[in-house]
Amino acid sequence: MDSIVVTGNGPLDGQIPIAGAKNACLTLMPATILSDEPLTLTNAPRLSDIKTMTALLASLGCEVSSLQDGQVLVMSSHNLDNHVADYDIVRKMRASNLVLGPMLARLGHAVVSLPGGCAIGARPMDLHIQGLEALGAEIELRDGYLHAKAPKGLKGAKVTFGFASVGATENVLMAATLAKGTTVLENAAREPEIVDLATCLRRMGAQIEGDGTSTITIQGVDRLGGATHPVVTDRIELGTYMLAPAICGGEVECLGGRIDLVGAFCEKLDAAGISVSETEKGLKVARKNGRVRAVDVTTEPFPGFPTDLQAQMMALMCTAEGTSVLEEKIFENRFMHAPELTRMGAQIEVHGGTATVTGVERLKGAPVMATDLRASVSLILAGLAAEGETVVSRVYHLDRGYEHVVRKFEGVGAKIERVPNR
Ligand code: UD1
Repeated sequence: MDSIVVTGNGPLDGQIPIAGAKNACLTLMPATILSDEPLTLTNAPRLSDIKTMTALLASLGCEVSSLQDGQVLVMSSHNLDNHVADYDIVRKMRASNLVLGPMLARLGHAVVSLPGGCAIGARPMDLHIQGLEALGAEIELRDGYLHAKAPKGLKGAKVTFGFASVGATENVLMAATLAKGTTVLENAAREPEIVDLATCLRRMGAQIEGDGTSTITIQGVDRLGGATHPVVTDRIELGTYMLAPAICGGEVECLGGRIDLVGAFCEKLDAAGISVSETEKGLKVARKNGRVRAVDVTTEPFPGFPTDLQAQMMALMCTAEGTSVLEEKIFENRFMHAPELTRMGAQIEVHGGTATVTGVERLKGAPVMATDLRASVSLILAGLAAEGETVVSRVYHLDRGYEHVVRKFEGVGAKIERVPNR
């Protein structure tokens, strides 16, 4: 297992290219199951989670070719011949559950293991199940697997989600494209990844309106065709790299960045004293002088502050002037980075879903352990701002969601290297 060694070394300067969104790509890939014609995704990120989804689709009989060093994925599901998503693959990544809706819609039956993924909370699937049952599916849990069937086919219905779950919205949206009649999703998630999925499905021939709002209306069609679709920019990778000059000082341009993807996050950066400006190529972030100001953050579904940037924002607040309160409202167990940051001299108190961070002038390098995907990168950000050397172990979490992470930080002048474990 490799480690990442970071040495704090002052202001950063330069450009960082932002990849296509992991979370969008992981829902766009299963959309191939809905059609027997090819689906091509461009701007795909090169990540281990994408390889896991590739393996899952291949196990179902889909063909997936990775071209242009992984940035283009060409998929075909004309030979879909298995309806069982096995535990051995699904346990590696929760997003594997996104094959359920498409398989049910295309084949009329599906067996999908209950998922694994980052250990950041209970993460049940009740909302996915309720949504698909409303469309006429019969779903049973047996031996750790969801056994789903739609003997009479799926039928359009009104589905009101108890919570605007991203995954449940995606699963039911995909299933509804091939259901008979009209489906209305109320309290649907509004994340940009949902809009990207709906855009791709429309390219395949689906009839969808209202994506990006809380009410999505889908008029079912008999079949979907092929399409080529570029994956939307990764707003979480974008926000992460925007925090690099915020925490270290300097000026960094994030290529491909868009303000509409990170609006609530930019408001917090502004309040902290970080400047963000739009350029022709993306977003430029600068912190010229002095410490950042402490700001309070509450995570919320989009367009609120994303839970996937909470750990990274906490790293910034560890060095801010004053005390900030970070409230985690999406996942119940998402402060595992706090004790690791404390090892670096941060002052953090966690009570339930609230972390109170009192900024210190300078963090100190230390050996720390990555506990989940976003926590890992928060430790790298903290290390960039710390005095001395920080060694982040268990970096396989990072490979799930950040492509060429060392190269991207190095490109703006960070002292960072990946080493075999020592
Ligand atoms: C997606 C993202 C993840 C992000 C999260 C919230 C992908 C691949 N992953 O995860 O990076 O952190 O959105 O923005 O896109 N819940 C239920 N029942 C359900 C489904 C969810 O109670 O059936 C709960 C979860 O336990 C969690 C909350 O709802 O507390 C949010 O989950 P959800 O929006 O579904 O997140 P994911 O789709 O799993």
